[in-house]
Amino acid sequence: MRNTVKLPVVMATAACALAIQSQALAQDKVLNLYSARHYQTDEVMYDTFTKTTGIKINRVDADDAGIVARLRAEGAASPADVIMLVDAARMASADSQGLFQPIKSAKLDAAIPANLRADASKDGVTWTGFSTRARVIVYDPLRVKAADVATYEQLADPKLKGLVCTRSGSHPYNLSLFATVVERLGDAKGEEWLKGVVANMARAPKGGDTDQIKGVASGECGVAITNSYYAARLIKSSKPEDRAVMEKVRVVFPNQGTSGTHVNIAGAAVAKHAKNKDNAIAFMEFLSSPFAQDYFANGNNEFPAVKGLKVDNAALKAMGGDNFKAEQIPLGVVAKNMTKVQQMLDRTGYK
Ligand SMILES: [Fe+2]
Repeated sequence: MRNTVKLPVVMATAACALAIQSQALAQDKVLNLYSARHYQTDEVMYDTFTKTTGIKINRVDADDAGIVARLRAEGAASPADVIMLVDAARMASADSQGLFQPIKSAKLDAAIPANLRADASKDGVTWTGFSTRARVIVYDPLRVKAADVATYEQLADPKLKGLVCTRSGSHPYNLSLFATVVERLGDAKGEEWLKGVVANMARAPKGGDTDQIKGVASGECGVAITNSYYAARLIKSSKPEDRAVMEKVRVVFPNQGTSGTHVNIAGAAVAKHAKNKDNAIAFMEFLSSPFAQDYFANGNNEFPAVKGLKVDNAALKAMGGDNFKAEQIPLGVVAKNMTKVQQMLDRTGYK
């Protein structure tokens, strides 16, 4: 009797141990990804990661704000391992809310320029940019001379009175740009510049970047600011009316003779409470591979972030995007200057 009783106990223990072991193995082969990117081409990239590493990706898609809200609500119980967001201002904001953890990776240190990542601390780096986009100026050549829109600074020149269009000043794309302008010019001149831009507006800020380009083409605006991929999308569009918009406007990569054109990032970070941290770091490193860079960047007409990789995109090349001088200010300053810039926007009436 003893044996018949004992045997099932041993078996149960063994079965239990096996279950725990397989659970641990299963845990080792999973990555929970919260992503604000929704591009078809990214699917191939994720599949390739799974094929090469055996790590399955469970993906939660939401917009940037939705992801941040979800992480905050889930707290320490969050299953998120890696978070992908678009824009340095959003990265900096999520970081300041304690949603990321610093990581150390010699591979990422070697591949990604330091100015496209969060400022490093002794514990490592929180967020990393994996593709870049330029914040360019678009203008109507019938109303504005190229020489009058060669720099961001000129957007505040009274010569452009009644011509400037932008989306909301508080939008992360503008916050990031303004944060680096203020870093370069200093607080007093930076605020003066914002005041000048507001004084030059053709209308109150509204719409997205594509609306600003269309505003220039329609004659509502003479000059506008947009991310480069929106212009590239219109160039590549299957709709003749979109391509006609780009035929009416010109694109400038500003500040080529001085500080370089402001570039922003789409990036990723390891979640504060990641349960699969090793897999998360492996995924971040995979994103810096030439293979992933191609998918990551071209899916949305962006530029690769990895040092030495060149853009391979006809629409970006047509705009002059294959050879421009990019601003080198570390995007970590966006975190430092964000609140200050928002206060300046309030004071200058930049909606
Ligand atoms: Fe965008």
